[in-house]
Amino acid sequence: MTDLVLPGETNPLNNLFGGELLARMDRAASIAARRHSRRIVVTASVNHVAFNRAIPLGSVVTVEAKVSRTFRTSMEIFIDVWIEDRESGNRTKANEAIYTFVAVDETGRPVEVPLIEPQTEIEKQRFEAALRRKQLSLVLAGKLAPNEATELKALFMS
Ligand SMILES: CC(C)(COP(=O)(O)OP(=O)(O)OC[C@H]1O[C@@H](n2cnc3c(N)ncnc32)[C@H](O)[C@@H]1OP(=O)(O)O)[C@@H](O)C(=O)NCCC(=O)NCCS
Repeated sequence: MTDLVLPGETNPLNNLFGGELLARMDRAASIAARRHSRRIVVTASVNHVAFNRAIPLGSVVTVEAKVSRTFRTSMEIFIDVWIEDRESGNRTKANEAIYTFVAVDETGRPVEVPLIEPQTEIEKQRFEAALRRKQLSLVLAGKLAPNEATELKALFMS
């Protein structure tokens, strides 16, 4: 999803307002989740956001969202944010984020989603790490007891 940064979307330093970027990332992630599942999808959680670089007024910003792993009804979406140099056209990575979406039916009840098969090295890395991110998110949301977070525990024990 590519769009400009306009004056109404900036903070007092004339950089893109964080909330505006969160909304753009949510929109792009929801499209990726919907295309994968062919279902209604809702944002279940924002697992990680890193605002590494400010994005100045007038920038051309590309928000790239990909399903990095699916579980039963939920999907982890990895988002990479790029800014484009006006003269060279080269892209620089500005930010990244990880969102979780859940596919639901017309009544809002979670429904199963198709599996994904990671292909590239980076897709495989993101796929591998997704289970521990899911467990961390569930622990923080009070939906999983810390002692049941096996993948997370393994990270600290190894
Ligand atoms: C997201 C939602 C559908 C989950 O419903 P629920 O009753 O908790 O359903 P479940 O417990 O079956 O969870 C469904 C899936 O979501 C996952 N999930 C729920 N909360 C999560 C969280 N905080 N982090 C990561 N995954 C989460 C569960 O692990 C489960 O995944 P799985 O089936 O792939 O294993 C429900 O909470 C909801 O509708 N929330 C509002 C969504 C919304 O309106 N978003 C926009 C915000 S304005």
